[in-house]
Amino acid sequence: MDPKALIEAALSARAHAYAPYSKYQVGAAVLGKSGRVYPGCNVENASYGLSVCAERVAIFRAIAEGEPEITALAVVTENGATPCGACRQVLYEFGTAARVILAGKDGTFREVGIDNLLPDPFVL
Ligand code: THU
Repeated sequence: MDPKALIEAALSARAHAYAPYSKYQVGAAVLGKSGRVYPGCNVENASYGLSVCAERVAIFRAIAEGEPEITALAVVTENGATPCGACRQVLYEFGTAARVILAGKDGTFREVGIDNLLPDPFVL
């Protein structure tokens, strides 16, 4: 898998982010075992706790479309931040060996294992 192709899909999805409250736009793309790619963006709500991260939108989309296993996840943010704990837990359910690629909007990226993701300080 070329990380750049998955990053590209996440970057395109980021353009659809609905983030009028935090103004923090996130795009994600999941690669399924089948080779199909499932994009997602964060979707916020006036009742802020109902907001859903881009990663979970992409993961749930994959599952809802019948993709049982996730092999990689790319995330694009302003600063290349790491996914939140809830998203890691959800990813682990469907991809215990998933590659995780974290990209900034300038195209720089790093790859981490799902087991060695350290949380970043809360960014807003
Ligand atoms: N967010 C994501 O979509 N993914 C992350 O990895 C971190 C946070 C979203 C949730 C909320 O819409 C906004 O970014 C600020 O936290």
